[in-house]
Amino acid sequence: MAEHHIIVEHRHHQSYPNESDLALLRSQHTPRLSRRQLILVLTIGGICLISLYAYWDIMMITAGATANSFAAPIPAVGQRKNVNETLAQQLEREVRVLCWVLTTPKYHKSRAIHIQRTWGKRCNKIYFMTSAPDDELETVILTKPDKYEVLWGKTKEAFTYLYENKFDEADWFMKADDDTYVFVENLRHMLYPYSPDMALHFGFNYKLIGNPPKNGSYMSGGSGYILSREALRIFANGVNDSSKCRQEDNQAEDLEMGICLYNLGVPAGDSRDASLRFRFLPMAPFSLLLSHYYGMDFWFFKYSYYNPRACMNCLSDYPVAFHYISSSELYVYDYFNYQLQLYGRTELTEYLPQKILPEELQSFIRPSDNVPQ
Ligand SMILES: *[C@@H]1O[C@H](CO)[C@@H](O)[C@H](O)[C@H]1NC(C)=O
Ligand SMILES: *[C@@H]1O[C@H](CO)[C@@H](O)[C@H](O)[C@H]1NC(C)=O
Ligand SMILES: *[C@@H]1O[C@H](CO)[C@@H](O)[C@H](O)[C@H]1NC(C)=O
Repeated sequence: MAEHHIIVEHRHHQSYPNESDLALLRSQHTPRLSRRQLILVLTIGGICLISLYAYWDIMMITAGATANSFAAPIPAVGQRKNVNETLAQQLEREVRVLCWVLTTPKYHKSRAIHIQRTWGKRCNKIYFMTSAPDDELETVILTKPDKYEVLWGKTKEAFTYLYENKFDEADWFMKADDDTYVFVENLRHMLYPYSPDMALHFGFNYKLIGNPPKNGSYMSGGSGYILSREALRIFANGVNDSSKCRQEDNQAEDLEMGICLYNLGVPAGDSRDASLRFRFLPMAPFSLLLSHYYGMDFWFFKYSYYNPRACMNCLSDYPVAFHYISSSELYVYDYFNYQLQLYGRTELTEYLPQKILPEELQSFIRPSDNVPQ
């Protein structure tokens, strides 16, 4: 090592060789590259350049990741008063969540039942919207056919059914896919500051691109979205208005839902946590942790309403929902979060956030900070 160092130093301080020396050096030390070697060198060089570009891409994305100063995080108000129940029990009483999962008979036993046995049992109520009854599931039979192309039609029918039949059962109404995982306790904690009488909906915010630009957001269907009771009332009463909501049953369900709610004047909430990290994520956690696989073209970076970050510490400490979770993974998530203990882990002091007044609501919905490229 030391020897090599000395040689380098020596060369560095050498005076420039003259022309004849150079010719000699070239003939001795720079043999012509064969065609194979040339291809190899070009290939390696190309790979290096592409890697460097991808790395730069990610650095640029992560560089813009400073928290904006639009609104302070919702303040905590102190420890809970009742010690006869856990925070989760208190939230279950005070923030009632009805969950509904769109599924089909084909997936009752392979997907739906596993949701009911894992996170689904933590919702105050859970219904499976499908086309045939099941001996183990609480089902609601929809009239629309079992076709992917009518998802939007089924969603309209499902929310209308809940409004007409289950309106008093909950404060918030969450739609999830059959490959979504929801941390229901964190969902309730996120909703706690808001009144269900505020027209509002939450989820992973995508840019609502339109002409003219709407500057709004709509929620990804994959990680699920949740409507306040007031938002559900407005939606069910306005959904048949062809000037506001798409009357046909086709097209992307989550986008049509977002356009419809936007036109009906239901604000899209900001579901990020106090560190401005996403609580709803339309993909599995590893997708952010292993961000270096994605370039700038990855849809998440382009269409996210809020500045998308991908890095080892970008996941929220209080996530609400992930997408693309297989049925077997549902049980793994449950085990890691509701059973597994670690020796030496410090106990957290749990706080409830402050309630937000209706006139304060707008200041907690931050504008988009994912600037167009
Ligand atoms: C805890 O006490 C409060 C009143 O102090 C009561 O309303 C609530 O039902 C109790 N919870 C449980 C789980 O016993
Ligand atoms: C959206 O933002 C653009 C540019 O800032 C602005 O010109 C336009 O009026 C906004 N549209 C709405 C509906 O707020
Ligand atoms: C909208 O149309 C659907 C389907 O025809 C119907 O079930 C629902 O009651 C209507 N809603 C309102 C508010 O009229």
